[in-house]
Amino acid sequence: MTTDDQTYAFKNALDAQGERLRTLETLFDPGTIRCLEARGVGPGWRCAEVGAGGGSIAAWLCHRVGPEGSVLATDLDTTVLRELAHPELEVRVHDLLTDELPKDEFDLVHLRLVLGWLGDPRSVLPRLIGALRPGGWIVAEEIDFVSAVADPRMEAEAAALFERVLHEHNAVLAAQHRFNPFYGRRVAGDLADAGLAEVGCEGRTTMWCGGEAGGRIWRLTLAQLRESMIAAGRMTASEIDEAMALCDNPRLSMLAPVVMAAWGRRGVA
Ligand SMILES: C[S@@+](CC[C@H](N)C(=O)[O-])C[C@H]1O[C@@H](n2cnc3c(N)ncnc32)[C@H](O)[C@@H]1O
Repeated sequence: MTTDDQTYAFKNALDAQGERLRTLETLFDPGTIRCLEARGVGPGWRCAEVGAGGGSIAAWLCHRVGPEGSVLATDLDTTVLRELAHPELEVRVHDLLTDELPKDEFDLVHLRLVLGWLGDPRSVLPRLIGALRPGGWIVAEEIDFVSAVADPRMEAEAAALFERVLHEHNAVLAAQHRFNPFYGRRVAGDLADAGLAEVGCEGRTTMWCGGEAGGRIWRLTLAQLRESMIAAGRMTASEIDEAMALCDNPRLSMLAPVVMAAWGRRGVA
């Protein structure tokens, strides 16, 4: 599979996608780190960060596991990851849909906003679970747009426009890239069905405002999807441009999509 025919909609090698990955990290790393700390990640752990994107969590894991531990960071496209330099880190080009992972190896396999892009995420769970040593943890964090609505204090016209853009974003990504914008609600159940023990989950959301990181993620996302959204024929270029301008304006305020963190443990035979 080449980076041109993959299901993932964004190209990590583009400057705008590098900035988009950094912005995702700004928004989501604090919650991810709390969740990983709660699983007990510490010195000497062997970790895999799958679909590592910009690599901030891979870098955090390197500091956390120290010289006795190791971190394997994988992605379809490692352009941004290759900028990282830590003695504990190995970076590997890897397609989770087709390529094997080391077996019985890791104390932790972490993924964030990856499974929802895979069409049938359940098909890769045996590979992820097989990569764990007995007792090791999977932590999978997936988005669910159920909560994504405009703040009722927004002007009605701007709120309606932004909610149309949200809906269109989900529709285009689902139709063209097999993205499931509501996978967050399924991920814990899928981990349990795949046979993991001690499965739990926790959802996180917040308010996103124009001119801040939450507005920026929308502007960077819409900039990359603009042409596909216009081609879908339900929104005009000027409507999309107006929504993008809102992203830099404090008039935009919305409840963010939920990030559902789910975890589970491979049983000790
Ligand atoms: C939304 S980004 C999230 C990046 C990072 N996990 C984070 O949360 O900051 C999704 C990442 O998954 C990667 N990805 C998508 N499909 C993949 C696949 N089949 N195998 C490996 N990585 C994949 C993309 O290249 C991208 O870096």
